[in-house]
Amino acid sequence: MKGVILAGGTGSRLHPLTLITNKHLLPIYDRPMISYAIEALVKSAVTEIMLVTGGTHAGEFLRLLGNGHEYGIDRLFYAYQERPGGIAEALGLAERFVDRDRVVVVLADNVFECSIRPAAEKFATQEKGARILLSKVSEQAHLKHLGVPELDGQGRVTKIVEKPEDPPSAFAVTGIYFYDADVFDVIPTLEPSNRGELEITDVNNHYVRQRTMEYDVVDGFWGDAGESIEAYYAVNDFVRAHGANKEIPGT
Ligand code: G1P
Repeated sequence: MKGVILAGGTGSRLHPLTLITNKHLLPIYDRPMISYAIEALVKSAVTEIMLVTGGTHAGEFLRLLGNGHEYGIDRLFYAYQERPGGIAEALGLAERFVDRDRVVVVLADNVFECSIRPAAEKFATQEKGARILLSKVSEQAHLKHLGVPELDGQGRVTKIVEKPEDPPSAFAVTGIYFYDADVFDVIPTLEPSNRGELEITDVNNHYVRQRTMEYDVVDGFWGDAGESIEAYYAVNDFVRAHGANKEIPGT
């Protein structure tokens, strides 16, 4: 399985910090944000990775990561997104790199307390389709800024609503997505959303309609450090106190 780390966007929700650097290079506790996404993949035995970024600070990633070997990456590739066209468009840039293999996609501002390795192992046994990771979020106001699944109570997602007015469950769709090779056939069929982007939620809803979307609920803390300055500091505080990408014995 290949890994794709998405580290583009304008980071406007973290202005003015992101006027001087890319959001994913800002510190989370004692290291740049991007290193947590890399660690999540490497700990899941995903060591062929493409980093997709854009904007004016793209060169800094090369300076930080180089060939990736110091981070446990075997082969590191880079792609450049010309304009902020959305998560699904950014993933599309990795098509030739993924080369009909399976892929795990990580939004580089998402930080997890626990390793995602168990979910990666379950996806490896899944015959086809996609897999998402959900996190319990009890505040309605917070859910309105995220993708939220509707669940049927029997282990299936029936749809995902992006930034819902009326959240259909108390779970967020986090920024880790597992896909089979079909994902690159789905992306060209998407239409831009109201915010002018190709939405990853539309990709996921394709798999939901095919009834090949599976999910896990993550253990422990999950945070999207790019959501707001408050969220950025909540993730910093959590990681400083408790760490990230931890292995849970017995999983
Ligand atoms: C994106 C996805 C959303 C998901 C979130 C997780 O939102 O569109 O479904 O819940 O990442 O971080 P964005 O950060 O683009 O607003």
